[in-house]
Amino acid sequence: MPAPPTDARSFTAPVSAVEPCGADGVLLSLRPRAPLPPLRAARFFMLRREDGLSPAIGRPFSLYRQTGGELQFLLKVTGRGTRALAAREPGRELRVIGPLGNGWPDLDGDGAPWVMLAGGIGSAPFFLAIEQALAGVGGTRPVAAEDVCLLYGASSEVFLYDLERFESLGVRVLAATDDGSRGFPGNVCELLEHEWEAGSLPREVRLLACGPDPMLRSVERLARERDLACWLSLEELMGCGVGICNGCPVPTRLEGPLGSWPNAKCCVEGPVFSTEEITLLAE
Ligand SMILES: Cc1cc2nc3c(=O)[nH]c(=O)nc-3n(C[C@H](O)[C@H](O)[C@H](O)COP(=O)(O)OP(=O)(O)OC[C@H]3O[C@@H](n4cnc5c(N)ncnc54)[C@H](O)[C@@H]3O)c2cc1C
Ligand code: FES
Repeated sequence: MPAPPTDARSFTAPVSAVEPCGADGVLLSLRPRAPLPPLRAARFFMLRREDGLSPAIGRPFSLYRQTGGELQFLLKVTGRGTRALAAREPGRELRVIGPLGNGWPDLDGDGAPWVMLAGGIGSAPFFLAIEQALAGVGGTRPVAAEDVCLLYGASSEVFLYDLERFESLGVRVLAATDDGSRGFPGNVCELLEHEWEAGSLPREVRLLACGPDPMLRSVERLARERDLACWLSLEELMGCGVGICNGCPVPTRLEGPLGSWPNAKCCVEGPVFSTEEITLLAE
């Protein structure tokens, strides 16, 4: 049975800062008493308040940044759990379970360029990913800055969270908005097609994507049509985050490496899956 990662722990950590970000987001920083080693991008933590204001079950959040002993999360405030977390005062504690999940594959500089597709708050697992790709983390050859491109889409400019910080990383960052308020008018898949048509991106690329389900389905479809390597970081509903509740099934591909079982558990086998392993296109 897939199990939670061996480095996962349950601990409390004080909030060191909560800063507004975009129209409905916050940057929430925690300072664990025992600093964590550098973590792979797209791993996640379950976070909750223990004072009765949070729902009983924690909520999962990707690690956004990790600096000087701090863990930073980029939260979109959507419901009771995120509202409670965003209102936690600096100095007060949160219950933290993690690090959980697998994270992106090795972002090596040995193959096709990496194109990262982010939809709204789906940008959260990409900041560390870009930093780690450029640094060559895990013994891999660093990726040249010109071989990393972030296509960052949202319904409107105010939901392009922390865009300037992404732009400061020194890779190509292209924005797309449904309402045309910033960058390309359209979604990230249309932007990718547009870049291909313009010859600004090679046809052979490796795709990483995180965002709302319809976007991920479009990315999967595009990857299959063009026979591109592609990994999706899924934001499934999660109850426990550690493989116990069966609340996070993801359909596997019968012909893929996980196909001996019809579902994978997003929390312990993901949240990152290659499109060889799973499909979001099944009826
Ligand atoms: C791996 C992963 C990484 C993520 N990373 C991020 C990130 O970096 N930033 C970010 O903003 N978001 C991220 N998300 C999404 C985030 O977890 C959700 O937005 C968050 O859980 C919303 O919580 P809420 O309580 O505010 O919203 P709500 O909508 O109130 O609740 C969250 C979900 O729990 C369900 N729920 C609520 N109450 C109950 C109940 N009583 N019983 C059963 N189910 C219930 C709801 O159906 C809802 O879908 C991530 C999700 C995953 C899986
Ligand atoms: S969230 Fe409980 S098994 Fe995945």
